[in-house]
Formats: sequence, structure tokens, C-alpha cells
Amino acid sequence: MRVLGIESSCDETAAAIVTDRKELLSSVVFSQAEHELFGGVVPEIAARAHLQKVGSIVRTALNQAGVGFKDLDAVAASAGPGLIGGVIVGVMTAKAIAAVHNLPFIAVNHLEAHALTARLTQDVPFPYLLLLTSGGHCQILIAEGVGKFKRLGATVDDAAGEAFDKSAKMMGLGYPGGPKIEQYALSGDANRFDLPRPMVGKPGCDLSFSGLKTAVRHIIEGFSPDGTIENAVLSERNKADLCACFQRAVLDSLCSRLKNGIKIFRKEYPSGTHLVVAGGVAANTALRQSLENLAERYKLTFAVAPMKLCTDNGAMVAWAGMERFLAGMSDPLDFSPRPRWPLDPSAKR
Ligand code: KG4
Ligand code: ZN
Repeated sequence: MRVLGIESSCDETAAAIVTDRKELLSSVVFSQAEHELFGGVVPEIAARAHLQKVGSIVRTALNQAGVGFKDLDAVAASAGPGLIGGVIVGVMTAKAIAAVHNLPFIAVNHLEAHALTARLTQDVPFPYLLLLTSGGHCQILIAEGVGKFKRLGATVDDAAGEAFDKSAKMMGLGYPGGPKIEQYALSGDANRFDLPRPMVGKPGCDLSFSGLKTAVRHIIEGFSPDGTIENAVLSERNKADLCACFQRAVLDSLCSRLKNGIKIFRKEYPSGTHLVVAGGVAANTALRQSLENLAERYKLTFAVAPMKLCTDNGAMVAWAGMERFLAGMSDPLDFSPRPRWPLDPSAKR
């Protein structure tokens, strides 16, 4: 069986085809460069760029897989959460293909797509403990099954990816900030600046990153002749040290909160075996290493998708579509995209 997946909820226009035997037949990702100028994604520009590209990206995905529309069994699209203009482009494209070729349409929750990707590339049984960390979301959950997630905690302010992006912007490193900070951190001294570890030591699994971001701002202001961030000048050494300290603080915070998550997971699912990290920030090598160590310490098996499947891509949508299709789920063609769409609807915040 083959499912086509379309992703367009942020600044990547992507399409991929996967099979029920976990073969990735093709995966095409186009990252919109237009946003670099603005230091963040501009929704209106993103929507137009998706519209311009989506047709050729889908065509390329089919060509690379060596299949036609007639060879597909279903078509899936990220139907939220995300920037609504882009989401509409992907959903309408998938619906049009479904209508013309008489295929089932599957509306995929973008967060669930991140959450299930590790199951495409590895054998990860439900239930598993999941750290979902992207540009817009940062949550600790138990993945109990397809469409079934229990949220243990979430950020009370910024997402970790957002903190990476905003801190990078303040340091003048460009967008997206995660990979830039990771690169600088490699040569930096992670002990040079004293940064806070928000929430560490408190019970529960909620997270917070805005205080850390403010602390980064104050350090940058200290390198300005008049104390304003606009006039701050950071040497390459200062940038590297600040990036290393920032990254270490984020990792400490995530690991500490996950320790609480592991205890809850253990209690609720004593036979649970896996710790999974997903979402764009999971492409960070230092984070992957820290979580692997953490899992080992608590005798859990660590799983994460290959880096290029952590940031937004079509394969994650196609795979989540496949999982839903195999579970007998599909959606009507009048399905409305959902800009907000929590994985665990019972979570209070
Ligand atoms: O999942 P994703 O591609 O898009 C959303 O659904 O938000 O995540 C993008 C986020 C951005 O904030 C980006 O800076 C971050 O993931 N990111 C990273 C790395 N690569 C991407 N953060 C830290 N280290 C990285 N290597
Ligand atoms: Zn994403």
C-alpha cells in the first residue's frame, strides 16, 4: 500500500510517498528562503510560496517514487496546527487529488506526524514516552496509540525551538536559529555565562523558556556601549560561548523535566520500553546525545528519526497518514483545517 503525504504548515513545502512496509519511496522538501530576510516566517509570504510550489513538489515525489496517482491508496496532508494559509494549500491539494482519483483523504495532525515518525524508521511499540519539541510546540507526552496521546506537561511560554530562533536572532545569527546555535556551540565554552534552568527541581513536566531568552538578552546588552541590544557587538568568541551556554541550559531543562516524565511513565506503564524525541529541535546532535544517555541511565531504549525527518518533511505526514489508514481512519472532503489542534484534547492548557 502507498500513501502520499503533503506538508505545508510552516515554511517547508514537502511531499513524500511511503508504503505499509515502511519503505520511503520518495521525499521532496523545499525550504522557503524568503523568510531569512525577516528573521522569522511571514505567514502571507509562506502561503503564496506553498501555492506556487506544491504542484511541482507532488509531481517530483511521484516521479522519484516511480508511481502515478493510480498507484496510490490514500492521500494525506498536514491539516493543522500551523499557519492557516499554508495548511489550506496542502489540504486543498490533497482533497483535489483524492476527489479526482477517488482516493481516501486523511487529515493529519502535524504534531502527530512528528510523534509517529520514529515508528517509520525504527521498531517503536506503543506506549512510549515522547518529547515533542519543534518551533511552535514543546511537550512531554505518553504516546498510547494512533490518535491517542496523554500530555504530561508543556511549555508555559515559548517553545524550545522558538527560544533557539529568538536567541539566534538577538545574536544576529539568522533564521532558523537552531542549526546556527548548534554550530556556534561546538566551539564555545558552556561554563562561561551563568544562565537559568527554568522549572528545574519543580515537580511535574511543564517547561518554560522565556526567562532563559530574557537572560540571553541581558548578556547581549552587556556587550553594547549604550546597553541597547541594537548596538551590541559580539565577537565570534562571545557568540560561541553564549550559544554553548544557551544550548546547555535548554538541554539541562529538557532532561530534568523528562526525568519526572520517566517516573510517571514508569508508574503508568511499567512495561513501556522507549523514550522518543521528535520535532525540529530533535535534529540537534547534543540533545540526541543527552537523551540517549538519559534513556540508558533509566534502562529505556532511545529512538529518534534521522535528522532530515525531524524537521518538517512530507514523509512524516505520509507515515502518519499510513498509520491512520491502516487503523481504518479517513476524513470527509469537507474536513476543515484546524489552526489549533491539541494532541491531547483533555489537557487543560
Ligand atoms: O518541526 P519543525 O521543522 O517545524 C515546526 O513544526 O515548528 O521545527 C523547527 C524548529 C525551529 O525552531 C528550528 O530552529 C529548530 O526546529 N531546529 C533546531 C535544530 N534544527 C532545527 N533546534 C536546535 N538544533 C537544531 N539542530
Ligand atoms: Zn513541525
